[in-house]
Amino acid sequence: MNKEVTSKKVFIRTLGCQMNKHDSEAVLGLLMNHGYELTKNRDEADVFLVNTCSVRKHAEDKVYSMLGELRKLKKKNKHDSVVGVIGCMAQKDKKEIFKRAPNVDFVCGTHNSHKIPEIIKSVIEQKAKIEFTDMDKQVFISPTLSSRENKSSAWISIMKGCDNFCSYCIVPYVRGREVSRPLENIIQEVEELAYAGYKEITLLGQNVNSYGKGLSKKIDFSDLLELVHKIKGIEQIQFVTSHPKDISLKLIDAVVNLEKVSRYLHFPLQSGSDKILRLMNRGYTLSHYIEIVNRLRERIPEIRLGTDIIVGFPGEEEEDFEQTYQAMKKIEFAQAYMFKYSPREGTAAFKLKDDVPQKIKKDRLDKIIKLQRFVSNKKRA
Ligand code: 5AD
Ligand code: SF4
Repeated sequence: MNKEVTSKKVFIRTLGCQMNKHDSEAVLGLLMNHGYELTKNRDEADVFLVNTCSVRKHAEDKVYSMLGELRKLKKKNKHDSVVGVIGCMAQKDKKEIFKRAPNVDFVCGTHNSHKIPEIIKSVIEQKAKIEFTDMDKQVFISPTLSSRENKSSAWISIMKGCDNFCSYCIVPYVRGREVSRPLENIIQEVEELAYAGYKEITLLGQNVNSYGKGLSKKIDFSDLLELVHKIKGIEQIQFVTSHPKDISLKLIDAVVNLEKVSRYLHFPLQSGSDKILRLMNRGYTLSHYIEIVNRLRERIPEIRLGTDIIVGFPGEEEEDFEQTYQAMKKIEFAQAYMFKYSPREGTAAFKLKDDVPQKIKKDRLDKIIKLQRFVSNKKRA
């Protein structure tokens, strides 16, 4: 790697999911290889990066308010600092970001992170605003050992993008089509991590269960788990996120038989109403989901289950919400991430009328948060 001698300091703020946190580690690794140092102090940074999320509007609003704060900071003490917006919102809003936040120097989308050191150099040399948001090719870049935030537990990206097109979700549009990472690269990275002393790994992807699609070697996610399981030194293997429609009997067998695989499984239900699941384009019914839960619990009694839930999706009536509430009560998730529906332009659901009033969305969310608090405490007791 071409090392440049600079003493520039980079500050990075990350919003959103684990995938984003992992991408930030990778970008940081690249910058460190170009001589940058990480700083946790905004006041001393030469480069500010905001790694953004566009899953809900709230996350985007946060980015703009953060960029506003940086503008004040830049005026106060760092006139020549570089501000870059990267990740999902960069991909979605592209040049629009320059209009809403004129202090931004560059915008770099989800498929161009590997170019960030070059982009910063060009911004400084050419004193110009730069945008890279083409989506021609998914590139996997890994963090370096020193850019990984956690020194005992490591994230490893096994696939990027998503082909599911759940009707509410912006991810397939901003992260692109699903691409699996070649097996050899994954195995090599896990071996290196094991050698460096890592005991715990988490395999990351928007939809890990469909790993292998499009690869020249015929392999699926259960095969990958088996291979990773053989690597000496690794004691615990986790994976996120699983799609219920892709949880196969073979995968359940793998989880049963591979003792290093975590007994926590995150596979989002989203709604307990079949009508809403259909509108969401999720590809399963509540009874199919419960069948998987029962099968998992029969085979692995100690298994803990996690979910994501959206309330207030268009057309969600009281009885639909009640079905979600009852499903959560019946299934007893160990963990649940719960959200109010947020319309995202460009998605299929955006064409539906956002007809559940904010107040009702909030009441429904409060209700399931309260229920989940009770269930989580009960399960912990
Ligand atoms: N509104 C609210 N929640 C959403 N999610 C995805 N898109 C939206 C949206 N438009 C939630 C889903 C997903 C999680 C990562 O974010 O529950 O599983
Ligand atoms: Fe979004 Fe659905 Fe893909 Fe998850 S599976 S990233 S919710 S489209």
